[in-house]
Amino acid sequence: MKLRVVVLPGDGIGPEVTAQAVQVLQTVAGIHGYKFDFEEHAIGGVAIRDFGSPLPRKTLDACLASDAVLLGAVGAPEYDRLPANQRPEAGLLLLRRALGGYANLRPAISYAAIEDCSPLRSEVVRGVDILFVRELLGGLYFGEPRGFATTSNGSSIASNTMVYTVDEIERVARVAFEAAQKRRGKVTSVDKANVLETSQLWRQTVTRLAEEFPDVTLNHLYVDACAMHLITNPRLFDVVLTENLFGDILTDEAAVITGSLGMLASATVGGEVGLYEPVHGSAPDIAGKEIANPCGAIASAAMMLRHSAGLEHEARDIELAIQNVLEAGYRTADIAAGGHASRTAEMGELICEAVTEIADMRYAYHAV
Ligand code: IPM
Ligand code: MN
Repeated sequence: MKLRVVVLPGDGIGPEVTAQAVQVLQTVAGIHGYKFDFEEHAIGGVAIRDFGSPLPRKTLDACLASDAVLLGAVGAPEYDRLPANQRPEAGLLLLRRALGGYANLRPAISYAAIEDCSPLRSEVVRGVDILFVRELLGGLYFGEPRGFATTSNGSSIASNTMVYTVDEIERVARVAFEAAQKRRGKVTSVDKANVLETSQLWRQTVTRLAEEFPDVTLNHLYVDACAMHLITNPRLFDVVLTENLFGDILTDEAAVITGSLGMLASATVGGEVGLYEPVHGSAPDIAGKEIANPCGAIASAAMMLRHSAGLEHEARDIELAIQNVLEAGYRTADIAAGGHASRTAEMGELICEAVTEIADMRYAYHAV
């Protein structure tokens, strides 16, 4: 098994967390005798600083030639004043479009060991296991026309366009239905069909596609109601399917259920090359302090093995390792509730050890 991985550490805590994810992947490779090659490139603010562009040509070419891309985070306060298309975030959006993955999978899982970290009551979050399927290449993020202009009376206006084609809706909806078939058989499609035409088309298209999946139950929710149900009764949800911006917002909200945004992983599928990134951002306030939670990045690496390498067992081993380390009581600062906190690298090391232990146990089991 060979896998060529491009690592894009990016800004803020990105380098700290991706370093741990790479360690875990190397541990898996060592155990099973796989060959994972890692090549590091610049994206985001560091790429603007070093190469004058948030997505240098060299980075893009390397990503397109790879089997999978592991990204840390982009975004740096020193570039906040730049126009949208020159900011660090523009590098990520260009990369997403170039890789072509349109379905962004974001699991939100409440681990029993840290259910106390959620500001929501334990009985509300216990057992929550939601898979968000966020459309990633359409809607307001990419719609044209967009930009700034000046009206005839001299005042500034800005506009963005929310646009979806039937094909764009159908392909991402298909991912959601297929995921639901392997889970608890339920898709909640989220829109704003009481106001927006794009949402009306979204709802019609998803409803029509549902006929192909008689074993999946489909229901629809308006995004405002969904935002409320997510924190009042998150166990209602299995797979949540939604458009780009709604998905961006709802997945940050869902992080509250899991206890920390640092726990959330993501995989972007559907394109030639898979893109894997933790949901948390660059967190400049804690960057360089070695206190960031690497679990989101490590869980993203697990998703990489699942979706880009077909290594389902190895992916599960990593996910179980994260769970075991949490159950053993180890915490990074964001989930320590004021108690003892492990540093980023320590947490990564513990997860590597747990991965090795799990593999050893499986070997011992098969050996008897
Ligand atoms: C995310 C982030 C990005 C997004 C930003 C950094 C462009 O918030 O992945 O959720 O809005 O998609
Ligand atoms: Mn976001």
